[in-house]
Amino acid sequence: MPDLISQFIADYGPKIVLTAEQISNRASSFWDPRPICAKALVRPTSTQQCAEIIKRCHQVGQIIITHGGLTGCARAADTTPDHIILSTENMTAVEEFDEIGGTITVQAGAILENIQKLTADKGFYFPLDLGARGSCTIGGNAATNAGGINVIRYGMMRNHILGLEVVLADGTIISSMNKVIKNNAGYDLKQLFIGSEGTLGIITKVIIKLEDASNNCQTALVGLDSFSSVVRFLTHMKKSTGSRLTAFEVMWGNYYNAVTEEGGHNAPMDRDHPYYVITECSGTDPNSDAEIFINTLEKALDENIILDAILPKSESERSAVWTIREGFGPLLNNAPIFLYDVSLPIKNMETYIDEVQKNVLAAWPNSVCYAIGHIGDGNLHLFILPKEGDQSLHEKSDQIAYGPLKEIGGSVSAEHGIGLEKKAWLTHSRSDTEVALMKTLKQTMDPKGILNPGVIFDL
Ligand code: LAC
Ligand code: ZN
Repeated sequence: MPDLISQFIADYGPKIVLTAEQISNRASSFWDPRPICAKALVRPTSTQQCAEIIKRCHQVGQIIITHGGLTGCARAADTTPDHIILSTENMTAVEEFDEIGGTITVQAGAILENIQKLTADKGFYFPLDLGARGSCTIGGNAATNAGGINVIRYGMMRNHILGLEVVLADGTIISSMNKVIKNNAGYDLKQLFIGSEGTLGIITKVIIKLEDASNNCQTALVGLDSFSSVVRFLTHMKKSTGSRLTAFEVMWGNYYNAVTEEGGHNAPMDRDHPYYVITECSGTDPNSDAEIFINTLEKALDENIILDAILPKSESERSAVWTIREGFGPLLNNAPIFLYDVSLPIKNMETYIDEVQKNVLAAWPNSVCYAIGHIGDGNLHLFILPKEGDQSLHEKSDQIAYGPLKEIGGSVSAEHGIGLEKKAWLTHSRSDTEVALMKTLKQTMDPKGILNPGVIFDL
């Protein structure tokens, strides 16, 4: 009897089934250039085909790891040579655009940026936005409940999803393609799959609720002298601009400096401010929206809440400002480097960062800890660079970054998920009974453990 891969090649053809050798030139992920390893990569073209493949894997207990755009930050898509990868790259179609209901129905492999552009062309707005927009997929955004830069106004991916279709571990297709805002007919099953990191089912389609497009966007890069000023500025922006506020991204001075060093990004503002904020507002009345934005910044300057502000005058200037925040790629060349995605109350942030920086320095005298954050959402990202040793330092680094969170009611994952990377710390942010219920769900829905096993917890 031929093995499963030979059967798949015979039945689906070499365009759909790629062998281990054929994928050896692919990178493991957006972050890791090492070659991918797996028994094979299958890329179904329809939900039916996807379901059939999963059913056949289920029959023989074959593990399947789902791949979207591979931009996840928690190693939920790592593979070994025993795995089969199921990639959604051949399922990118937009199946429906409902202009009256304001929804779009897309297959899981559609790239986020393409959906953003397409909805904008039709006069709507899809608010999910993150640095990986050009590579990440809608299915991956749903499976990880992605966050990003507009959460402060629009919420995370969960808030944008009305319905979805998913294939369970045994190949059953669950069509939960709800398009209405209100539907309390029993459990809201889609919520089980959103943020479950591919462990309970493979998302194949998503119905997204769109927002009305605004016709203007104001951006400012601001310099500030202290964290308490950052918090005052956040409150001031919220109060003065109301529902127009769409982004409030903080960069600690050492981060801004590191990415604007010679050879790096251009620095449109002095490099010696202790903190920087990129803030954005949008609305539907260009004149009054711009006036409110400028008045709000002027007042912040007058009241010494902020030290300096610059307003990009063109889309390319705006994009250059955002590149400082989003273009941290070069920092990642300083291995070992550990990226964190923690959430905690804003009132605890300054002390938390001080403590982490102090402990990092005590552990590794040449180390640095850069910080950025979606602080309006209580979410910080830290980059810890020991500047010595290797990957094995991550345990010590994790202790430093995660240790203080429990006491202050924080979480070890704000928006990136748990993946393989943080599972040792899951119980730091979830109670034993919560984890027990998660495991019951996993065992019930995937008793053979074929979907992303070992992701989130050891099951
Ligand atoms: C960001 C990613 C790391 O905010 O979540 O840039
Ligand atoms: Zn983020």
